[in-house]
Amino acid sequence: MKYTDAIERLDALGGDKWAVYKMARQMMADGKDVIEMAIGEPDVPTPDYLIDAAMAALRAGRTGYAASTGESRLRCALAERYTRQAGREILPEQVLCFPGTQTALYAVISAVAASGDEVILGDPMYATYASVMASTGAGMVHVPLQAANGFRIQAADIEERITAGTSLIFLNTPHNPTGAVLTEQDIAGIGAVAKKHDLWLLVDEVYDEMVFSNAPFFTPLSHPDLADRVIVVSSISKSHAAPGFRSGWCVGPADFCSRLLPMSEAMLFGNQPFIADATIAAVGRPSPVARGMCDRFLHRAQQLEKILHSRTRLTVQKPEAGMFALVNVSCTGMNSKDYAMDLLLNGGVGVMPGSAFGESLHDWVRIALTKPDDIFDEGCKRIAAHAEKNNG
Ligand SMILES: Cc1ncc(COP(=O)(O)O)c(C=O)c1O
Repeated sequence: MKYTDAIERLDALGGDKWAVYKMARQMMADGKDVIEMAIGEPDVPTPDYLIDAAMAALRAGRTGYAASTGESRLRCALAERYTRQAGREILPEQVLCFPGTQTALYAVISAVAASGDEVILGDPMYATYASVMASTGAGMVHVPLQAANGFRIQAADIEERITAGTSLIFLNTPHNPTGAVLTEQDIAGIGAVAKKHDLWLLVDEVYDEMVFSNAPFFTPLSHPDLADRVIVVSSISKSHAAPGFRSGWCVGPADFCSRLLPMSEAMLFGNQPFIADATIAAVGRPSPVARGMCDRFLHRAQQLEKILHSRTRLTVQKPEAGMFALVNVSCTGMNSKDYAMDLLLNGGVGVMPGSAFGESLHDWVRIALTKPDDIFDEGCKRIAAHAEKNNG
């Protein structure tokens, strides 16, 4: 039978990037002594008040169809949240609700980048971006992110890649997998480029409450002169330890939202009212669990650095936000894929090879900071012992 070009493009991406993770999980299921530090999930349960809000809504019969835009009270709550954060008025009409950042990304990119268009984005990037791009058929133009400038994407590097086919600049701040947070100046520079070349500026801000360095978070939504081109996507998945709620949204120009709505209706026809009610409870005030996660993740990143830097030549790029740290493994002479497989088979630790996130991280692996302290420390010690045996 025949499949569409989109399915063929997605097939060609392959699942190779998850090979080490899948093998680590299989070895654990087979009873092998493996510490899996590849995938990161919030390390606390979803807070009770969100579970209670969802349960109360379920019992109150909030199980019908929701408004296809997202429930109006939720749009208002999100508009208030972004008005507070951006320091300028954001209206409910500027919000559309989706089941998670991922779906919002899919819908937004489908709306602004078609087959033949070019989207400029940093490399490395979050693992699903390539699949979203393959689905839409738009071309990816990679900007290699440099450790030397903290992996923060640079306006000049974006500008030199703009062509007549460019439709979108796609940012992720705070960034997965590097943990970089764009500064106010970075955002101003990139915003100026977007404006000069009349491009959309899409920002995945799913980690905006997960900043644990002193680096303050800036959103381009706060720039009034970018108001007609900035689209932000986010969710409560990370900030509220609630990825299974699948509650996300996009915020953009009101006109953009009304143009996007028919596509959202074609995909979803609204998401769940009881989840909307819980999300209203979530976004009305800062997350009560984000700070604790940030403190623990920062502490673990420091532990990783302390153990690896004292015993090995592996170097840790300290993250400013998120759930991960990058480690440069070039001293072992192995590329990230071979290193990650060798570490799993001979060191008993599963990590993500940097190559899973694009072309530019061949010397790096990504380590999740989400395991409990004692297991995390043991994982770090195993990584150090493995490096000592491998010229590292
Ligand atoms: C950068 C980034 N964007 C989006 C997502 C997906 O978020 P959601 O659960 O809201 O779909 C993730 C999840 O890991 C992520 O790291």
